[in-house]
Amino acid sequence: MRIDIVTIFPEFFDTLDVSLLGKARQTGLIDTRVHDLRDATTDKHRTVDDTPYGGGAGMVMKPEPWGETLDTILADPDSSSVPVLIVPSPAGEQFTQAIAKELAEEEQLIFACGRYEGIDQRVSDHFASRIRVRPLSLGDYVLNGGEVASLAIIEAVGRLIPGMVGNPESLVEESHEDGLLEYPSYTKPALWRELEVPPVLLSGNHGAIAAWRHEQQLERTTRIRPDLLPE
Ligand code: ADE
Repeated sequence: MRIDIVTIFPEFFDTLDVSLLGKARQTGLIDTRVHDLRDATTDKHRTVDDTPYGGGAGMVMKPEPWGETLDTILADPDSSSVPVLIVPSPAGEQFTQAIAKELAEEEQLIFACGRYEGIDQRVSDHFASRIRVRPLSLGDYVLNGGEVASLAIIEAVGRLIPGMVGNPESLVEESHEDGLLEYPSYTKPALWRELEVPPVLLSGNHGAIAAWRHEQQLERTTRIRPDLLPE
C-alpha cells in the first residue's frame, strides 16, 4: 500500500520508522511518503493560512498549496488511479474498525493534515470530483491538527494489511472484532501482589475458558460500552 501524507509538520511522521510500521516500510509492504505543504508556497514566509471569510477566530488553510501538492501526488506515475483522500477532522465521520478494514483494501491513501480552523472547504470539494474524499474523526474531542489522527488511522489500517501482523490470529480476538470489547488477559506469575489469575484460565479446559472469556466480554461491554450491544 502506498501512503502519502501532506503536513506542515513532517517530523510528526518520523515515528513511522518505528515498530511494526517501520518493519513494513523496510520490507516494502508499505510505501510512505511525507510531503511538506510549505514546499508548495511561493512567498518568502511560506504562508499556508489566512483569515476566514465571514470573520471569526482562528486561521484557515489556504487552498493553493493544497491544490499544488495534491495535484503533484496524483500526477506521480507511481500513484494509483483510485486513491482515497483522507481528511482527519473533528467534523468527519467517526473512524471505526470497520472503516479501517475497508481502507486496508485500498492501493493508496493520501492524508491531508489540516491545522488551525481547518482547510478551505473548496480543497475537499474540488478533489471529490476527481478521487474519493473521506473526512474522518477519531472521536468527539479536538486535537490541534490532523497529524496525530493520521498516525492513529495509519496504525489501525496498517496492521490489517496482510503480512503486517506476525500472527493473523491475534487480530481475530481483539476488541471490536466481534462487536464486543476484548476479554482481560493474564500472564505469569499466577499470583502477583496478592492478586490471582482467574482459576479457570489455569484449568486447561478450553470450553470453559472460551465460555468465561465470552462472559467477560459481555460484562465489560455492558458496563463500559453499552452502545455497542445490539438492541
Ligand atoms: N483534528 C482535530 N481533531 C480531530 C479529531 N478528533 N479527529 C480527527 N482529526 C482531528
